Amino acid sequence: MANESFNTTPLPGPFGVAVEGLDIAAASPAQFNALVDLLYENHILVIRGQDLSPPEYIAFGRKWGELVPYFQKRWTLPDYPEVLLITNEAVPGRALPPAENWHADGTYLERPHSVTMLYGREAPDEGGETWFAGTAQAYDGLDAETRTALEGLMVQHVKNGGDKLALAEEHERALTLESQTTEEERKGLRPVVHPMVLRHPATGRPALYCSTTTAYGIEGMEESEAVELILKIKRHVLQSQYRQSHKTLPGEILLWDNFAVLHKAAPTPLSNADGERRLLHRITVSGLPERFADRAAA
Ligand SMILES: [Fe+2]
Repeated sequence: MANESFNTTPLPGPFGVAVEGLDIAAASPAQFNALVDLLYENHILVIRGQDLSPPEYIAFGRKWGELVPYFQKRWTLPDYPEVLLITNEAVPGRALPPAENWHADGTYLERPHSVTMLYGREAPDEGGETWFAGTAQAYDGLDAETRTALEGLMVQHVKNGGDKLALAEEHERALTLESQTTEEERKGLRPVVHPMVLRHPATGRPALYCSTTTAYGIEGMEESEAVELILKIKRHVLQSQYRQSHKTLPGEILLWDNFAVLHKAAPTPLSNADGERRLLHRITVSGLPERFADRAAA
């Protein structure tokens, strides 16, 4: 389908769209707005055939919101703290979180991350996908009675899911690694609440926002009842009809809307061998593109 002079094709599966025939470094404002609309409508967006310098990629990322620099510079692209290297390179001391649990980015923050993007540099011959579960589609799949019951519930989140021991350890880590930890990260160690039914800050579309590793309770609800409800919603969200995956190939940019999907990385073994390396440049943003500046802070 022609759209603002580039082509769009639905991805196989329940959601997602791919764009071809657009150099994003030379995209017009109208073309960029069309990409934003495509992401919000389709939840994940693949833009093929890109050849970007780091400044061009960062400039593209900045159009989606405020860049979130990664807090440990040793895992970022040299001179570009906004770009996290996601790699399976076998390096001594590499201890990046494996991201193999279902989550949306930054749910433990007062202002969670809105959009995450991966720019493919190397892809293994086998595996290396990112898996998704559609939380907006899963909301649409609820019956009216359940929707009503969930409305107004506020879910409590903390990094590492409210395990009290883990929480204590995170506080300890924050104190000992203070020089490597940003104020944003330290804020992330305190519990926050988000609505179970989250309205997208740009479109208003509702989605289920609790099925992550950070949710540990619901305000005003007995703990065991809250945990049971969170698990019930998670089982609903993870049904096959809401599931999608995409393997980001070199030259592709994959974006996802953290307010409409959960994601996790497929397990990828460490390797430096040809045909087995995975290298992605990740940019994460909070907030919304400038044209939504009138909306409440997301
Ligand atoms: Fe993530």
